[in-house]
Amino acid sequence: MRLLEEKIRSDGIALDESILKVDSFINHQIDPELMQLLGEELGRHFADRGITKVATIESSGIAPALLCAMELHVPMIILKKQPSKALNSDLYQTIVTSYTKGTSYELTLSSKYINEHDHVLIVDDFLANGEAATGAIRLIRKAHATIAGVGILIEKTFQPGRKKLEEQGIEVYALARIAGMQKDSITFVSEA
Ligand code: G4P
Repeated sequence: MRLLEEKIRSDGIALDESILKVDSFINHQIDPELMQLLGEELGRHFADRGITKVATIESSGIAPALLCAMELHVPMIILKKQPSKALNSDLYQTIVTSYTKGTSYELTLSSKYINEHDHVLIVDDFLANGEAATGAIRLIRKAHATIAGVGILIEKTFQPGRKKLEEQGIEVYALARIAGMQKDSITFVSEA
């Protein structure tokens, strides 16, 4: 999506060959008009697939997932990284280890908000090594729900996330696909 590519080029910061900072419009401060267009585009792409819920992993996926869910007129569910004390029974849980951040967390979802009739679209901000999305898929499958696909704002195509998901038969749709980065220069797949 050209609009997102232009925003990444103007406001994103390539810290090195692998990490892109988008704190000024996605991760820390959010550009609401841009986010609305991105969420709508994800929703339009996955329309007419019988999706019953949009799921994301807290925290940066919440904004695009909510706007995508609005476009699809379905509820949005947040997969929690730190289950609250109030969430104490009937939980689906799975451990996710992030290579990018070097951390692990227990992804948690209450059985109240998902069942075997759900067809779920997963939305997140970044696709890197794909551990977060793979964990979300594992969790949703524990509830015997099905996966409609994975919608992503920014995919780093030089990392193995897409391959990992497509090997499981999951469709991935990413709005901006980064082919490569160097300090202060970003190349998108369309230009590579
Ligand atoms: P992983 O397997 O390497 O951990 O990759 P994954 O795609 O699962 O992403 C793990 C976390 O790292 C995600 O954030 C993702 O948004 C973030 N991430 C990966 N690459 C980049 C990058 O180039 N730039 C930025 N800004 N973030 C990146 P998270 O743990 O879910 O945190 P949150 O921001 O959603 O709270």
